[in-house]
Amino acid sequence: MTFNEHQHDRDHRNDRGHDHHHLPPSRPAAGEPWSDALVEWYLQKHADHPTNRMAVTAAALTGAETVLDIGCGGGAAVRAAASAVPTGKVLGIDPSPAMIRYAEREAAHHPAVDRMTFSLGRAEDLPVAAGSVDVAMAINSLHHWGAIEQGLGQVVRVLKPNGRFVVVEDVFAHSDTGLDRASLCRLLAGADLEISRMSEQAHDDGTALVIVAKPLEGDDP
Ligand SMILES: C[S@@+](CC[C@H](N)C(=O)[O-])C[C@H]1O[C@@H](n2cnc3c(N)ncnc32)[C@H](O)[C@@H]1O
Repeated sequence: MTFNEHQHDRDHRNDRGHDHHHLPPSRPAAGEPWSDALVEWYLQKHADHPTNRMAVTAAALTGAETVLDIGCGGGAAVRAAASAVPTGKVLGIDPSPAMIRYAEREAAHHPAVDRMTFSLGRAEDLPVAAGSVDVAMAINSLHHWGAIEQGLGQVVRVLKPNGRFVVVEDVFAHSDTGLDRASLCRLLAGADLEISRMSEQAHDDGTALVIVAKPLEGDDP
């Protein structure tokens, strides 16, 4: 069984037999599009989830970086990152048109609006030039990708040689998606992404695993 088959199997078992307190029962399997109803539910509950700020803190932005948020949802991390890069820029991508519409609406009246762009897109096929990104982030998004290995290959493609990749995954999700710490570490290593920092951090809605990784040939982040 591949990783993704395992993940789907876990999702389906949870849909049948377990109470899932985070997403409604109709949530899509990894790789399936989010319905507008699910997007609306998510944004009402989690549009400004604390893991977005955690990721931006872990990114340790210095002010001029090009930042990419993969699976940006409502754009909370894009707005936080844009505030932290006065001479940089931030691109949020998400496959859900409803998420992108919401993120664009929220960005429109933000002081850093000129540094933010949003695009429809998937991790597996990033609409971004090779070697153009200083910091890529994936916040509670990676376990939704339909083909995680392919998405990580895209992350490596778009990162500059000494760029960094910040992954944040809520620990609650591990038991539901099969994406536990060991699986995540294996996937990153398989994509030639070397972990430079990893911690579990409590927030007011749970605990998140926060990882900073870099392409193998890169300098220390
Ligand atoms: C749990 S939400 C997290 C949103 C945002 N990062 C946050 O933390 O608030 C997961 C997001 O991943 C997006 N997503 C699903 N499949 C994806 C894929 N293949 N590539 C990139 N993003 C994806 C969904 O549309 C959704 O916006």
